[in-house]
Amino acid sequence: MDYTELIITRRSIRSYDPDRPVPEAVLRKILEAGRLAPSAHNNQPWKFYLVSSPLLLEKIKMCYKREWIRDAPHILISAGLRREAWTRDYDGYNSMETDVAIAMTQIILAAANEGVGTCWVMAYNPFELKEALDIDDNHQLLAITPLGYPKAGYQVPVEKGRKLLDEIVEFL
Ligand SMILES: Cc1cc2nc3c(=O)[nH]c(=O)nc-3n(C[C@H](O)[C@H](O)[C@H](O)COP(=O)(O)O)c2cc1C
Repeated sequence: MDYTELIITRRSIRSYDPDRPVPEAVLRKILEAGRLAPSAHNNQPWKFYLVSSPLLLEKIKMCYKREWIRDAPHILISAGLRREAWTRDYDGYNSMETDVAIAMTQIILAAANEGVGTCWVMAYNPFELKEALDIDDNHQLLAITPLGYPKAGYQVPVEKGRKLLDEIVEFL
């Protein structure tokens, strides 16, 4: 897809076809967009968990109490590695969240380019998610998204509801 068209048409998808898993080759192509994302000092302080096994999927879905996620055939969990992220000398700012957000954005756009739906989700229970995934403490879970094909007939709202350019930009 043309990049401008991709930016305009990508939407959060909240309805998934449970019977249509995403082929592994497509999933890998989408994840590759995360691997190639820029990060401060090229430290790549991230790890991605792609969950497709029914048992673990069930556990992860329980951490986000919304009915619509139940049909998703895959869930991607992105984690940050605080100690591996670049830190600014002057004030100790650590770029982990920024780096992971960039990778996640590239993943979401790459998915849309493949016709695969995503929805960045943060309103999960972080304590339950940590327990469900059982990973070491150096990995901070930062966001999840379902991955899957939108259910037939699913319509996203036409209006994107964004602020106007003049409200958010100052040309100085
Ligand atoms: C950091 C972040 C957290 C979000 N968390 C949630 C969430 O917990 N649940 C949800 O349904 N959507 C969530 N969203 C999706 C936003 O609601 C959505 O991106 C926004 O309304 C714009 O709609 P669009 O993605 O269709 O353009 C999140 C998006 C971002 C970037």
